[in-house]
Parts: sequence; structure tokens; C-alpha cells
Amino acid sequence: MRKPFISANWKMNKTSEETKDFISSFLPLVKDVTEVDILIAPPFTSLGIAYGLLKDTHIKLAAQNVFYEEKGAFTGEISPGMLVSAGCSFVIIGHSERRQYFKETDEVVNKKIKIARNNGLEVILCIGESLQEREENKTFEVLDKQLSGSLNGVSLEGITVAYEPIWAIGTGKTATPGQANEAHTYIRDWLNKNREGADTLRILYGGSVTPENIESLMAEPEVEGALVGGALNLTVLLK
Ligand code: PGA
Repeated sequence: MRKPFISANWKMNKTSEETKDFISSFLPLVKDVTEVDILIAPPFTSLGIAYGLLKDTHIKLAAQNVFYEEKGAFTGEISPGMLVSAGCSFVIIGHSERRQYFKETDEVVNKKIKIARNNGLEVILCIGESLQEREENKTFEVLDKQLSGSLNGVSLEGITVAYEPIWAIGTGKTATPGQANEAHTYIRDWLNKNREGADTLRILYGGSVTPENIESLMAEPEVEGALVGGALNLTVLLK
């Protein structure tokens, strides 16, 4: 049985002050929750303040993105070493908003995963199909392409996969538990077939997860956690 894993992707939300306020009131509520792994991914500017509050707790800290070089003339980018020194143990890579707005390809995602792992960061790799792709029955084809491109030459140690159908992200239109489980099963089979060590890897569902629907999603055999954006109040989800 893999340990459930609930992660919060704050996206471009919360200033340093808001981060401090949120985490300060969040921590007492989850101090005894140890049967679930909990992770928070604030924006870069809040990592320092978040780390200060989280470092002696069981809550994990993640960045939402990383660049694929160690250092150099890449204005505005953040290296994996910088994330480690800011206290991150995880990084989210390949989120559909990165793919959509910043044109990240599977090749770029693959480079980011490799450099993150070389620096000891664990990775949450996001994959998922668009509405059009689902309607054209191309979901598995898209997942296959994203998995093989993103994980090219990558071992599964330190990797978590988040299945996030694009049509469900921030739309209030969640995948049904059956749809999520079907995609997760495909991902699990793909990993078992193509990589060693898939047994311990967790597959999270993301896309309009709320306090109302998390229980039925998590009840599915292949759904081991959630990547939550809009429903920031994780404490409700953990009940
Ligand atoms: P959402 O976002 O919960 O707001 O749909 C999920 C995500 O983007 O990871």
C-alpha cells in the first residue's frame, strides 16, 4: 500500500505575508496528520518564508518549476541548486500551464527532470490530455507520448506522476473517479512495462479536486493522492 500524498500547487498566488499567515494557521491543523504525505508548492518568492516555517515539520516544500541548467546567463530563471539551498525537496515539472503558456515540450520537461534528480530533488511530473484529445479518443496516446518523452533515460526513483487532464484544471469539471482510475491504470501499466521500480511510485490526480470529491477519487485503487490548485484549504481535504 502506497502512502497517500496530498500536494498543494499555489500557482501564482500568495505574497510572502500571505504565505506566512496561511502556513502559520495551517500547521497546527495538520500537526498530527502523519498517515498522509503533505506537500506545499508556493511561488518562488515565498519559498524562503515557507521553509522557515516548515523546516522542522513533516510538511514537504516544493517549487513549481525549475530551469534545466545549473547556472549562467538565463535571466529570470531558477536553478535546481538554488531550490535545494532554498529548502525545497521537491519540484513540480511539466504542469500543463507551463506546457501551454510557456511552450514547454516533453524534451524540455525531460531535461528539467534530469537536472532536478541530479541535484537530489524529487519530482512531481504532470501529464494529461486536452479536451479535444479526450474527445478524439487520444488520451492514452497522449499519455504514452508524454511519459516516453518526459521519462526518456530517467529512472523512477524520486518520481511521482500527477495525472492532470487539462480540461479539469481550474474548470470545476473534475474527471469522474472512473475516468481518473482508468488513466491512472494506463499510466501504472505503462510504467510497469517500460521501467524498473514502478511499484513504489505514486500517481496523483489533479484537476478541480475539492473537499466534496476527494473522497470518491481517492477511493479508486490507482489514485494515491491529489495535486490541488484552487481548493487551497488542504485541511478540509485531509479530513
Ligand atoms: P485546480 O488545479 O485544482 O485548480 O484544478 C490543479 C493543478 O493545476 O495542479
